[in-house]
Amino acid sequence: MTVNNIDRDAIAHGKITEKPLRDRPKHPTWVLKLSMAVTGLLFAAFVVFHMVGNLKVFLPAYEDGSRPINVYGKWLREMFYPLLPHEAMLWIFRIVLLAAIILHIYGAFVLTGRSRKSRGKFRRTNLIGGMNSFTSKTMLVTGIVLLAFIIFHILDLTLGVAPAAPTAFEHGHIYANMIASFSRWPVAIFYILAMVVLFLHLSHGIYLAVSDLGITGKRTRAVMLALSYLVPAVVMIGNISIPLSIALGLIH
Ligand code: HEM
Repeated sequence: MTVNNIDRDAIAHGKITEKPLRDRPKHPTWVLKLSMAVTGLLFAAFVVFHMVGNLKVFLPAYEDGSRPINVYGKWLREMFYPLLPHEAMLWIFRIVLLAAIILHIYGAFVLTGRSRKSRGKFRRTNLIGGMNSFTSKTMLVTGIVLLAFIIFHILDLTLGVAPAAPTAFEHGHIYANMIASFSRWPVAIFYILAMVVLFLHLSHGIYLAVSDLGITGKRTRAVMLALSYLVPAVVMIGNISIPLSIALGLIH
């Protein structure tokens, strides 16, 4: 907790003072950490499902000529129809994801600010080094890059807004839109690099969420540590295979 008392002497010498030793935060740190862990794990689940859906681009066309990924896109819009109106379930997912991203970003900035304030001019030293230190130090940067990616990505493949989207973009034609988009090498390279950034952010994020959710058992932590590399690696490789195969002309 951020100690914020101008009477440093009182703190150093344990003098009794009537002033509170700390500011009462608007949201306690543990609430923010918990909300970041839960929303982060929700995103992890989303990217796994999204990748499985995206990989349908590799399936051959059905006999009637329709593409499995387009059929899947239609199913996403018609989930639970006619029980629910057309696109209702998709909008529920969109609203949940939007709320989650707002909470996640808010938590990231408030917690980073708090940690800087409480550490003052003292920097962390003697970090173990290696991959974990690198990813932990770059969480804010990788998070911002991912946000930029998500904005570009929605303009490109969901809304079809040029110049992010290819000029040939047509709503509902997911297969053709992906081919048109990733046939542009700079865009394919951007997606590939973004997936590496996603790996870095997600692998450290899962590890942090496990700690913040209070998982302390030795064996469970070992399993979660392995998963925190395995799941992001599968998502990265699965997703990279799509822009790469299209840019290389392996599917067209
Ligand atoms: C190479 C990797 C990826 C490919 C090929 C891909 C492909 C697509 C496609 C084709 C759509 C449009 C689907 C439709 O209209 O039904 C879409 C939507 C979307 N993607 Fe991705 N995606 C990738 C990675 C990601 C990642 C890493 C994230 C999140 C971090 C993400 C988040 C989204 C979101 C939020 C939407 C909008 C969904 C909606 O509201 O309809 N995508 N993606």
